Amino acid sequence: MKKPYRLSLIVAMTEERIIGNGEKIPWRIPEDQQLYKRITMGHPVIMGRKTYQTLPKPFIGRRNIVISRTPASIPIWEEPSGNRAAASKPRTLETASSLKEAIDKAAMRLEGQRGESFNSDEVFIVGGAQIYSLSLPLADRLYISTIHQAYEGDIIFPDFDREEWPVTETKVFEEFTLEIRDRKG
Ligand SMILES: NC(=O)c1ccc[n+]([C@@H]2O[C@H](COP(=O)([O-])OP(=O)(O)OC[C@H]3O[C@@H](n4cnc5c(N)ncnc54)[C@H](OP(=O)(O)O)[C@@H]3O)[C@@H](O)[C@H]2O)c1
Repeated sequence: MKKPYRLSLIVAMTEERIIGNGEKIPWRIPEDQQLYKRITMGHPVIMGRKTYQTLPKPFIGRRNIVISRTPASIPIWEEPSGNRAAASKPRTLETASSLKEAIDKAAMRLEGQRGESFNSDEVFIVGGAQIYSLSLPLADRLYISTIHQAYEGDIIFPDFDREEWPVTETKVFEEFTLEIRDRKG
């Protein structure tokens, strides 16, 4: 039976597949951040606990699902009252103790605490390296921004067979190139 959703990985990396240095992403490219926001807005985003800890807040307008072996250790997050941007673009924070649990949650419709309804046919894995490695074998689509400049780092996106992931779309920007790759067959 066909899945009712597409499982997509979205990542920015160097030619050497570097995605991070310690806790940080070694570049800041506003155009890529805007693209990332446009692509993932309204869809559930699944991330590892370490990536979540690098964010100032959960991503606005999205269900944020954080994977940890000790999910109870992740503090509950509540939208501060009076945030007008979040009123029109609601967000939630959920936790899961496995990738499967995270995907199962993301694939289900969610009624938010304030009566919002979350429903999506695309589920995004947004990192980091550990969670990309776990989810790559299950993924249907990759959105890869390859940064033109070289950077040093120690967190690496898993190696993958590019022949198994033909390019569906390419868009060249000043500082990076976006490739959308869909799994063969
Ligand atoms: N360039 C990009 O597009 C991009 C995107 C996202 C992140 N990043 C970078 O990636 C780095 C973080 O990546 P990371 O690989 O170190 O960490 P990560 O994948 O974000 O998170 C790892 C954590 O996920 C949980 N986890 C991993 N496997 C699990 C499993 N099988 N079951 C349950 N929980 C599991 C564990 O949490 P607990 O320890 O709580 O159990 C683990 O410590 C940072 O440098 C970040 O800036 C880059």
